[in-house]
Amino acid sequence: MTQSLTFPAGFRWGTATAAHQVEGNNFNNQWWAFEQQPGAIWHGARSGLACDWWRHAEQDFDRMVQLHQNSHRMSVEWSRIEPTPGHFDTRALDRYREMLGGLRDRGIAPLVTLHHFTNPLWFEEQGGWEAPESVSRFQHFVERTVQALGDLCQEWVTINEPMVYVAQGWFNGIWPPGKSDFLAAMKVTRHLLFAHAAAYHTIHRLQSDAQVGYAKHVRLFQGLRPGHRLDRYAAGLKRWLFEHVWVAATADGKLRPPLGLNTCHAPLIDTFDFMGINYYTKDRTRFVPNPLTLFGQEQFTPGGELSDAGRDGPFAEFRPDGIYQICQEVRQFHKPVIITENGVPDRDDDQRPRWILAHLHQLHRAIQSGVDVQGYFHWTLVDNFEWAEGWGLRFGLFELDPETQERTPRPSAGLYGEIAQANGISPALVERYAPTLLPQIFPG
Ligand code: BGC
Repeated sequence: MTQSLTFPAGFRWGTATAAHQVEGNNFNNQWWAFEQQPGAIWHGARSGLACDWWRHAEQDFDRMVQLHQNSHRMSVEWSRIEPTPGHFDTRALDRYREMLGGLRDRGIAPLVTLHHFTNPLWFEEQGGWEAPESVSRFQHFVERTVQALGDLCQEWVTINEPMVYVAQGWFNGIWPPGKSDFLAAMKVTRHLLFAHAAAYHTIHRLQSDAQVGYAKHVRLFQGLRPGHRLDRYAAGLKRWLFEHVWVAATADGKLRPPLGLNTCHAPLIDTFDFMGINYYTKDRTRFVPNPLTLFGQEQFTPGGELSDAGRDGPFAEFRPDGIYQICQEVRQFHKPVIITENGVPDRDDDQRPRWILAHLHQLHRAIQSGVDVQGYFHWTLVDNFEWAEGWGLRFGLFELDPETQERTPRPSAGLYGEIAQANGISPALVERYAPTLLPQIFPG
């Protein structure tokens, strides 16, 4: 009989969420303000009540229990905790204590993200991440938050997807602050790096047993046309700027060009206890003679399978091999790996079961090859507010009607629950949910 794929004992099975995408009524941050601008969000959507977590997160925690989850990655909203500079709202911190306690009572270990794309309005008014003081402002918020919540959480992500935040806000200009300004982008990247380092050391000072890292989005850019040298260079430039520069700086402390001239910022050295990876898809880059796009334009493989995000969407192509590839690449750091996000927009769920199984198969291969992968957080539990795409892209294991707040499990919810319960994948499960994958996952 064919053996099941079994994950290591104690493997972390969870979903990931972000405060602004689920809490509702986060009107004191820059995203809320951005949503009010005509044309900013697909079909003029607004986050509104989102998934109503500020009032009722516990109902979704119960759904996590139904899916046999032992972990959850959530974020806290800076603008609730520090609504005006230096004023910390104990009611907001108490609500987070209640939520973290609620997870723990259900046997679900929390991993908390301290920055997931949103800033308080006052912080924006004081220059946002372009101001050098942003670093100490963030550090102060982190210190007070960890003091208040540290007894309920030992694992922290300082900053979510720093380079996505920079790219969308300061290159592509489709997220706040809506700029296209290379020098400002580099300045913000430096400040985010320094803020990460400051947060890393602050948390360790307060909590000796904390595990601290960041969540790095990777897209593994590769040249579009095989053997085409300019495509390869353009892809290499993107990888350098969006992937390598950040990760390398947090390992050896060096600010590489264009962030700096290999100057060392000592507090950055070795500032991740685990490597958090957000993986969705792989990009292929085609050379274009345009410095504004860094000489590259991202495309998908001709004939490749696409998700609901379609040709223009950022999460489009089915490339489960990338999750294996990135695990191999980060081996050099000798740190545990956590997949802090992985998912697919698929409203009718006709692809997601196969996507989940194919990605977990690749992850299992990476583990078999000796990579210390400790957990997998699926993005996401319930359809949530998808930033500039509003309610247009649906990533949930549960479907949400934002008007009625009604949730309906998609078939993938059942699948993911069974995987977590068994801590593995059996041939029968694959047969039931994605039979076309059987020969690939269980050859012979
Ligand atoms: C972000 C999430 C987002 C998800 C799907 C990630 O880039 O961290 O906030 O919803 O991708 O788009």
